[in-house]
Amino acid sequence: MMENVRPCVYCSRRVPGPVLAELEQLFELELHDSERPPPREELLRAAAGRDGLLTMLTDRVDGELLDAAGPQLRAVGNFAVGYDNVDVAAATARGVVVSNTPDVLTRATAELALALLLSLRRRVTEGDRLIRRREPWLMAPTFMLGHGLEGATLGVVGMGRIGAETARLAGSLGMDVISAGRSGGLPLPELLARADAVSLHCPLTPETRHLIDAAALRLMKPTAVLVNTSRGPVVDEAALAAALREGVIAGAALDVYEAEPEVREELLALENVVLTPHLGSATHEARVGMGMLCVEGLRAVLLDRRAPANALNPEALR
Ligand code: 8YV
Repeated sequence: MMENVRPCVYCSRRVPGPVLAELEQLFELELHDSERPPPREELLRAAAGRDGLLTMLTDRVDGELLDAAGPQLRAVGNFAVGYDNVDVAAATARGVVVSNTPDVLTRATAELALALLLSLRRRVTEGDRLIRRREPWLMAPTFMLGHGLEGATLGVVGMGRIGAETARLAGSLGMDVISAGRSGGLPLPELLARADAVSLHCPLTPETRHLIDAAALRLMKPTAVLVNTSRGPVVDEAALAAALREGVIAGAALDVYEAEPEVREELLALENVVLTPHLGSATHEARVGMGMLCVEGLRAVLLDRRAPANALNPEALR
């Protein structure tokens, strides 16, 4: 009897075990049990008739999907803190509460930004490639020198939760931190001119698309490096590849890409580039935490009829 009254939820990707167990306990669950996204047509079909959806960054949550789900849809739990894949206004107009996954991935993402920064400045991945190529090498006083972090200036663009945590960690390593963003700090051109390393932590919005373009890169020091763990389109990748080739800046580390999962061919050939496959929040701890926040978002709306703490549009509750 209980089985029939449980809300129906579609989850568009394989999730960690504890999250799956919780989803199965609370909901009538349909799972797309794969690390790859469902094709759009399948997503539209699978959403039909569900009360809740658990979506990923790679699923476009727009009017089309919400309409394909139908008027009974009341909640979307988006498995990411960034929600540039969600048309929140479209959800609000249809009475669908959307939640995201802040806080639980803050530390993981800040740590990855630091890992990328260290990899660049200390040439970790470059050295790893040299060894794997079986190139002859000998430790020598002038061999593969990099730069330490102590006393260097980190420019944090976007002082939200992740930017602030990155700043805190960098400060504990002896870096001087400056910042720019919506809520204050330096004007961006000044930050770019002063920083030895620039780390991007802003959301992707119409204002931040290609925020780092050819002109912005030219403002940076030729010795400076760029780290991007935010969203690929914040950086004009073609301009970045040219700047790296021409020595406009010293290096770049990217965890996110303009046409993810595609990685621009020119970047692959450059030694002064560190590339990771969108690992910002990829720790067991963060991903379980993110999944549990999605479950909590769905549970609050579908079972308790309240807006969850992490709702992006609590006013949509009906
Ligand atoms: C997510 C992310 O893990 O949370 C975000 O905004 O970019 C990632 O950390 C990824 O998008 C999974 O949906």
